[in-house]
Amino acid sequence: MRELSGLTALVTGASRGVGVYIARALAKEKMQLALAARSAAELNALAAELSGQGVRARAFVADVAAADSAAELLERVGRELGPIDVLVNNAGIEQSSVFHETPLADLERMIAVNLVAPMRLSRLVLPGMLERRRGHVVCIASLAGKFGPAFQVAYGASKAGLIEFAHALRSEYLGTGVSASAVCPGFITEAGMYQRMLERTGARPSPLLGTTTPQAVAKAVVRVVKRDLAEVAVSPGPARLTFAFAQLFPNLAVGVARSLTNDVFRKDAEARRHETGRQ
Ligand SMILES: NC(=O)c1ccc[n+]([C@@H]2O[C@H](COP(=O)([O-])OP(=O)(O)OC[C@H]3O[C@@H](n4cnc5c(N)ncnc54)[C@H](OP(=O)(O)O)[C@@H]3O)[C@@H](O)[C@H]2O)c1
Repeated sequence: MRELSGLTALVTGASRGVGVYIARALAKEKMQLALAARSAAELNALAAELSGQGVRARAFVADVAAADSAAELLERVGRELGPIDVLVNNAGIEQSSVFHETPLADLERMIAVNLVAPMRLSRLVLPGMLERRRGHVVCIASLAGKFGPAFQVAYGASKAGLIEFAHALRSEYLGTGVSASAVCPGFITEAGMYQRMLERTGARPSPLLGTTTPQAVAKAVVRVVKRDLAEVAVSPGPARLTFAFAQLFPNLAVGVARSLTNDVFRKDAEARRHETGRQ
């Protein structure tokens, strides 16, 4: 999809963090924007900001993990902005904790928001996209989906699933005008879940892995749609080389992943344990 101007994108998780930057980047491409999340005030503020720049942007309050709400969301977007050309599955949640101590409901919630919701939304937008022979599904996954990180077991599993979901969609709909991509950021500073973790614990990943920015992730989203790329890693480190290494030497890769994340998630799990212990 070389030209995005005038087309419509739905960005989930647009109330804060990386989603805000993705929406701004798509607005720069002159797309119409449907902004979805549960926080009305934040969504309305972003919609007002983008509308002030001459972009048609609307806020849609929805919990993407609720089946009824997802279908209703797409209906409302269709009514107000027309059919969706680009779906950005960005809404996501994480939780650092010791796996066997994590309540089952928390594990299930992570899979529901991070993996089942993108599948549900994609399944609902696909028929229209196929009819128009135009559409792109972008899944904001994570490097955590490439190297299952300790203390983020369900998060890593959900992101690994999301990467393969994007790849499989891409294969299944090849030649139809509809495609899919996975964007895999590393640790993002300035905004979002890792920035909050950093503020909570001060823990940083190994300098070998480094950190990236929400602007770089937003740029990658525009790039994967325009160039129809299967997957992009957004990380200052030699990500592709590291993935190749991990495929060749999976036993070593688990240890390397652990040392590169430098116990960021362990410290966060400890901080959360203290917080919940105090409540
Ligand atoms: N930050 C990082 O370092 C990093 C690294 C790699 C990948 N990622 C991925 O990037 C994406 C964005 O992360 P972020 O850092 O921007 O996180 P964030 O600051 O926590 O924002 C998450 C967004 O998802 C929305 N959301 C959560 N649950 C939802 C639900 N049930 N229904 C609708 N919206 C929901 C939140 O809005 P409401 O609370 O208003 O609903 C919010 O807008 C996620 O998929 C994350 O896994 C982030």
